[in-house]
Amino acid sequence: MKMVFLGPPGAGKGTLAAMASKSMGLPHISTGDLFRAAIKNETELGKKVKGILAEGKLVPDDLTIALIRERLGADDARDGWILDGFPRTTGQAEALQSIAPVELVVNFDVPDETILFRLTGRSICKDCGKIYHATTMPPAREGVCDICGGPLYVRSDDREEAIRTRLNAYREQTEPLIAWYGKLGKLVTIDGSGSPDAVYIRFAEASRV
Ligand code: AP5
Ligand code: MG
Repeated sequence: MKMVFLGPPGAGKGTLAAMASKSMGLPHISTGDLFRAAIKNETELGKKVKGILAEGKLVPDDLTIALIRERLGADDARDGWILDGFPRTTGQAEALQSIAPVELVVNFDVPDETILFRLTGRSICKDCGKIYHATTMPPAREGVCDICGGPLYVRSDDREEAIRTRLNAYREQTEPLIAWYGKLGKLVTIDGSGSPDAVYIRFAEASRV
């Protein structure tokens, strides 16, 4: 199954993709995670995109498409994947169709107040990437990952100003993809509010997995 998770920042794409990846045995490929890894490792790409991510703007299409082209060429991506946060522009969606046509696009619909609540409470494990929320999914010990014991951190773009910029980028550049994939007949929209388990049940029904 070649699947795309679409939705605004904080919609729960990463949380649901981790659950779906585990149960379906598909690689979870997040362009945001790939950029953050490049920044952490201080690669050439990381140096180019560090400021862009911190501000909440979109990385230019040429860099993003090259990154995903390389990742989808890896052995583990031959039979399917869950793309989280890619594509985000029509240019990226067109490029993806020429690399490997998508079979299903799942659009997570959540109200703005939920987005803000989720993003302002998020923390992430520096070592394994597990996503937490101060209220809805707190770790057992504050600041420490339940899974691997690694330290938790807050993303540089989970500040109010960067969140505003990310939401604007989503509305202007990414939201048009809902209609774009709708026309291709590949889109399902699900209600992304409620607990992760409740959202997962809706996802499983909508994608019949
Ligand atoms: P990216 O990392 O993709 O960020 P994003 O799209 O802004 O989305 P988030 O990761 O913030 O939200 P999410 O939907 O994954 O929510 P999560 O599951 O964490 O991109 C970051 C940046 O990289 C971009 O701004 C851009 O600069 C660059 N970039 C990436 N891809 C690009 C592309 N294709 N083109 C150009 N630039 C690109 O959940 C959020 C919080 O809510 C967590 O705390 C979680 O615990 C909690 N939560 C989740 N689901 C639930 C639930 N059901 N109930 C209660 N709490 C929940
Ligand atoms: Mg994410």
